[in-house]
Amino acid sequence: RTGRLVDGFGRRFHYLRLSVTEVCNFRCAYCLPDGFRKTAPHSFLGVEEIARLANAFARLGVAKIRLTGGEPTVRGDIGEIIARVAATPGIDKVAMTTNGWNLHRHVAAWHAAGLTNLNISIDDLDAAGFAAITGHDRLDQVVAGLDAALALGMRAVKINAVLLKASAPESFDRFAAFVKARPIAVRFIELMRTGDNADYFAANHVSGAVLAAWLEARGWSARPRGFDDGPAMEYEHPDYLGRIGLIAPYGAGFCDSCNRLRVTARGKLRLCLFGEGGVDLRDLLADDRPDAVAERVTAALAGKSAGHRLHEGRPGDTRHLAQLGG
Ligand code: GTP
Ligand code: 5AD
Ligand code: SF4
Repeated sequence: RTGRLVDGFGRRFHYLRLSVTEVCNFRCAYCLPDGFRKTAPHSFLGVEEIARLANAFARLGVAKIRLTGGEPTVRGDIGEIIARVAATPGIDKVAMTTNGWNLHRHVAAWHAAGLTNLNISIDDLDAAGFAAITGHDRLDQVVAGLDAALALGMRAVKINAVLLKASAPESFDRFAAFVKARPIAVRFIELMRTGDNADYFAANHVSGAVLAAWLEARGWSARPRGFDDGPAMEYEHPDYLGRIGLIAPYGAGFCDSCNRLRVTARGKLRLCLFGEGGVDLRDLLADDRPDAVAERVTAALAGKSAGHRLHEGRPGDTRHLAQLGG
């Protein structure tokens, strides 16, 4: 598949992560421990602006759009956003990353509107552990939402779990049991150091190698990545219906296969999760001007760096991941 989005390192971009809000109703310890603070009146992209943006990126060869936040489902018009993105010619995957708080009530409607891929953040399958990390005692509701998605026949359902030092081994066992009979992937994410979480990072970060060793000792084997897949390396096991994956941004070569771009909830193109600055696209979204968007995006892409500089403790302008949806 071809497209016009290629950077100076020959990487191709078919995958857009579009944040629709910076607001989140959870207070994850590594992300927004104090909750979302409203510092200034915010105005996030409206449905029309989002539809125009989706169209412009689709014409550049983007085939997959993931809606992120903050928490995307705090928006009352998220169903309409899903429907408009799904109706965009050229977009064949409409994905969303959510904390799952209201999934059990709405997943059927979102699926009907065109949602194809659903990633749900669950850091711990122990109810007390889940509440301790997120600040909300809601594990049962989130799991009910996940099972409702599976009951609808959704087959692209994944869990994101941040890898944390204290809970690692017990946590792996619980997640493995959870995917034994469920056709889903659990992906453990290496905790990333952002601008705001230095102390939490120092106390809780463990390398993905801990999980890789656990998997290998138990007969899990790595499977190849597909062309528009996200960053995870996934493992499978003959006795398990589900998969276990690892997202290891501190691993060597992680950014070599970067295939995604980001647009913030205020309409700024961000070339890297841990980049600096960004290019405003919002002024081009007041009318339907896909060619002007295309020109600005392709020009900016020439300046995309080889990779993040997290190893050097440099998270760029990213204070926390809710700011641009991870
Ligand atoms: P799939 O498309 O289903 O594979 O999902 P995904 O992994 O691309 O998206 P998701 O929103 O579920 O992201 C999971 C985790 O990976 C989040 O913590 C993201 O912040 C992180 N992540 C996604 N893309 C990147 C990236 O380009 N760089 C880094 N460092 N982390 C990323
Ligand atoms: N490091 C790793 N993952 C993070 N997430 C949020 N902040 C961080 C961080 N600093 C995860 C959330 C969610 C996904 C979108 O990003 O838990 O699963
Ligand atoms: Fe948790 Fe996601 Fe909200 Fe951050 S943005 S606090 S990770 S639910």
